[in-house]
Amino acid sequence: MAHPNRLQDARVLIFGGTSGIGFAVASLCLSQGSTVIISGSNQPKADKKASELRSIYPNIPKEKVSGYGLDLADSANIETRLTELFEKITNGGKDKIDHVAYTAGDIGNIPTVPQVTAENAMVSFEVRYIAVLLVAKLLSTGKYMPQSPTSSLTLTGGVNTKKPMPGWTLMAARGGTADGMSKGLAVDLAPIRVNYVEPGAIHTELVQKLEDAHPGVIEKFKGATLTRTVGEPSDCAEAYAWFMRDRFANGTVAATNGGQLLANSGFN
Ligand SMILES: NC(=O)c1ccc[n+]([C@@H]2O[C@H](COP(=O)([O-])OP(=O)(O)OC[C@H]3O[C@@H](n4cnc5c(N)ncnc54)[C@H](OP(=O)(O)O)[C@@H]3O)[C@@H](O)[C@H]2O)c1
Ligand SMILES: *[C@@H]1O[C@H](CO)[C@@H](O)[C@H](O)[C@H]1NC(C)=O
Repeated sequence: MAHPNRLQDARVLIFGGTSGIGFAVASLCLSQGSTVIISGSNQPKADKKASELRSIYPNIPKEKVSGYGLDLADSANIETRLTELFEKITNGGKDKIDHVAYTAGDIGNIPTVPQVTAENAMVSFEVRYIAVLLVAKLLSTGKYMPQSPTSSLTLTGGVNTKKPMPGWTLMAARGGTADGMSKGLAVDLAPIRVNYVEPGAIHTELVQKLEDAHPGVIEKFKGATLTRTVGEPSDCAEAYAWFMRDRFANGTVAATNGGQLLANSGFN
């Protein structure tokens, strides 16, 4: 049997699709014939990035790409706004979404342990925890995603959870939510499959911002791997595509980190 292109005509929603890893996931899916909806924190950038994707694939019908602005940190209104998003992009549940990739997240000012207060400890948990659970709640209704192992939800953690950088305890905790939630949701959303991707340092806008603030950090990231490189967003996108295509991949993790967990053992 000829191998099928399982992303052909799939409908894929990417939270965080306006930048970095999520944008690369959108580009990969488009290259395989999917329809993609990219979502970011605001509409102007979502529209701009949707146009950018159309210009990368000029022969693809325009309606295969759309952008949707929604601030996932707006916890007071998030359930209503997410419901509006799913109603709109599925045409009231008629055109269901096959795959959701969730790469949204910022670093912002993550406090170090000596800086933690009861107020700042929850910074960025809105986007990385609360909003993720509400997306899962909407998927559990069956209205917006086929209840089938062909459907998937993929979350994003980070290798920092397994091998934390100094000062990044709170980021390690945020990555840990993806590990726990993906396994819990694999059970609770079944037969929809739920997994997570655990990237190492990927050269995205986010990492470029870190480099601009702390010149030399990319070289340090390279030195922390066996490949002596940072990953490209297009590398990392392959991990999300695995989870969309492989109907037997469920409740697990895809790590893409240049061998970081094995590096700097003292012998290499
Ligand atoms: N790059 C790495 O080395 C690396 C390593 C491990 C883990 N990760 C994780 O992977 C994820 C993606 O990282 P990236 O490097 O691709 O980052 P990025 O280029 O900065 O992209 C982040 C995305 O998240 C969206 N986002 C942020 N805050 C949002 C909010 N309040 N509401 C809605 N959308 C929001 C952004 O949308 P707008 O730009 O439109 O606001 C953007 O699309 C993050 O969770 C990051 O922690 C990255
Ligand atoms: C995914 O794995 C969970 C946990 O083992 C299981 O409960 C669920 O039925 C699985 N989903 C599919 C589609 O097999």
